[in-house]
Amino acid sequence: MKTKNYFWLITSIQVFIVFMLLTSCQEQKLNTVLKSPDKKLSVEFISVEKGQMAYTLKFNSALLIDTSFVGFEFQEQAPLAENLEIVNVTRDEADESWEMPWGEQRKVRNQYNRMLVEIRETIAPNRAFQMEFKLYNDGLGFRYNFPNISEDQETIIMDENTHFKLTGDHQAWWIPGDWDIYEHLYHHTRLSEIDAIALRNHNDLAQSYIPENAVNTPVTMKTDAGLYLSFHEANLTDYAGMTIKIDTKNFNLVSELVGSDRLGYKVKRVGPFQTPWRTVQVSETAGGLIESNLIVNLNEPKRLGDISWFEPTKYVGIWWDMHLGTKTWDYASTQDMNTFTGKKPHGKHGATTEYAKEMIDFASENNIHGILVEGWNTGWEHWIGFEDREGVFDFVTPYPDYDLKEVVRYGKSKGVELIMHHETSAAPRTYDQQLDTAFKLMQSLGIYSVKTGYVGKIIPKGEYHHGQWMVNHYRRVLETAAKYDIAINAHEPIKATGIRRTLPNAISREGLRGQEFNAWASDGGNPPNHLPTVAFTRMLSGPIDYTPGIFDIKLKPYKPDNQVNTTLAHQLALYVVINSPIQMVPDLMNAYKGHPAFQFIRDVAVNWEQTKVLNGEVGEFVTIARQDRKSGNWFLGAITNEDAREMELDLDFLEAGKTYTARLYLDAEDAHWDDNPTAYQIVNKEVKKGELFKLKLAEGGGAAVSFMVKQ
Ligand code: NOJ
Ligand code: CA
Repeated sequence: MKTKNYFWLITSIQVFIVFMLLTSCQEQKLNTVLKSPDKKLSVEFISVEKGQMAYTLKFNSALLIDTSFVGFEFQEQAPLAENLEIVNVTRDEADESWEMPWGEQRKVRNQYNRMLVEIRETIAPNRAFQMEFKLYNDGLGFRYNFPNISEDQETIIMDENTHFKLTGDHQAWWIPGDWDIYEHLYHHTRLSEIDAIALRNHNDLAQSYIPENAVNTPVTMKTDAGLYLSFHEANLTDYAGMTIKIDTKNFNLVSELVGSDRLGYKVKRVGPFQTPWRTVQVSETAGGLIESNLIVNLNEPKRLGDISWFEPTKYVGIWWDMHLGTKTWDYASTQDMNTFTGKKPHGKHGATTEYAKEMIDFASENNIHGILVEGWNTGWEHWIGFEDREGVFDFVTPYPDYDLKEVVRYGKSKGVELIMHHETSAAPRTYDQQLDTAFKLMQSLGIYSVKTGYVGKIIPKGEYHHGQWMVNHYRRVLETAAKYDIAINAHEPIKATGIRRTLPNAISREGLRGQEFNAWASDGGNPPNHLPTVAFTRMLSGPIDYTPGIFDIKLKPYKPDNQVNTTLAHQLALYVVINSPIQMVPDLMNAYKGHPAFQFIRDVAVNWEQTKVLNGEVGEFVTIARQDRKSGNWFLGAITNEDAREMELDLDFLEAGKTYTARLYLDAEDAHWDDNPTAYQIVNKEVKKGELFKLKLAEGGGAAVSFMVKQ
């Protein structure tokens, strides 16, 4: 009897051990939940029916993203979507900080929890890949890794099918998923009302291709529970840009990569590879989205050595003249271009040595240390509207009335650096061929930055600005420029995805409807709600070359049918609201000369120690305070849409124990973006930390404040 009992005891222990082992294995297999450091966000990766793989995202107990599949379609390979199993899960975490050489803040905290899920096909050919999740307090980043592909094996991706199954008909602020240009107005609708196709035929865009009902990123949303979400991507490297296809019924959004009609696929990679990070920023306040560092944190650390050759700066330019039509980029008329000998100038050419010197004098007198000169090189007679644009620009031959060396020399003698201009007219193969020659010339003259441009349909035909082929071109330009100590401000660019962390010579870019639309758009220009929307959408991706600060709001007498749709104080506030280490001072010099409000532009900094978003609602208003890295002074910008508003701010950001001289540049009592846009007032005050501060913004108005430490 005793032996029998003993036998049963041993057997039960054995059974128990096996059971425990099994459950612990199973538990290990099933534990695919990852939480953010503050535990508020959690992502779960799950295997669902037919061996499909999916993820969910929760904020506290609220489901933000419901079961969302991941997968790929390839050329000459079965899709990767079903018959998959999780074979291993590993985790780690990080909490470190790094410094921005220039930007919206000096120190950035990079704190996340990471989960790497290894996945294998259960049927032949048993392909393996990984899903890598990084969860931050401010959002999620995840990407696909294919580490096991042999070095010389090509992978041709026909599409990536990353789903974002949203749980409600959120409000969304979106631009269409144009494969060629981001220069669209933002639309504010429910998800169910997104209709990008309706925007296909915009007359003011020289290039535009909207193949689907999709949106470009960042796309920002607000749930009915009041949470703010923004979808984008980080570290877009050797891959196609991602648009997001809208499902207006079930809100099951799906990635749609930008393609190439020429090559017939979306992405080609050779050897092991990783996709860009797919990102979801989550915040309880709209301002939290602006303060989020998720996009830069998901990029690699700085790869460049000493970059002190670039200094953040404000800059003037021979530029607004051309958009107003008072001057031209070209030297001769288009009809004369075939016989162009330099002998038939039409007399309106903007880029002359004389005009550049006049502007340099103006800049140096007003604490502005850069000058952009557009239309300096030959070729402008043959750019927009010509099919055979390759080889037109060489980036080294000035027009006869422009002495490049002399302009650089004169500028340097006055503390004003020339910003080079390279308009490629969307002929990137020409630019590729000329790159070294063009950058060598700049290096020999001591020119440290260039504004590039890609106006028009890309040559070769069938390529799009946002496809892999162009993504690689933009990167080649950035990397080559770095070798010559040159920084890039790209217009008609690929969207920013935080590469500036790795390559800080990516100083700024356009990639939105800039100020120039106010000079010539046939739809009336950028409405008052444009920048209050941009601050929570486009600006989440990185610095913007918007060119704020137009004082001649009605563009009189040059453009009777166009105008800027904000007050003058709103224009001033943009120098603080918009983040960029270069900020243009674009208006004609006469608009600024002797104008008391110009003092704000003289004073305002461009490089920040820290940034605080004091309030805001997407598309309505935003107030941002930023501290100058050099002086410790603070600057504040508040802007509103077409609604006037009053706000009370807490001056908590100022340093305790110090007195500040605050100079407020405000809308006058009767100011209005359309009826009375240039009416302003300047008020001086002494203030201290913690005091309450009231601001009144007119319709389409703003407020700009400098807080100088009192000595
Ligand atoms: C478009 C750019 O956005 C603008 O700033 C520039 O003046 C023109 N292209 C010419 O390059
Ligand atoms: Ca542009």
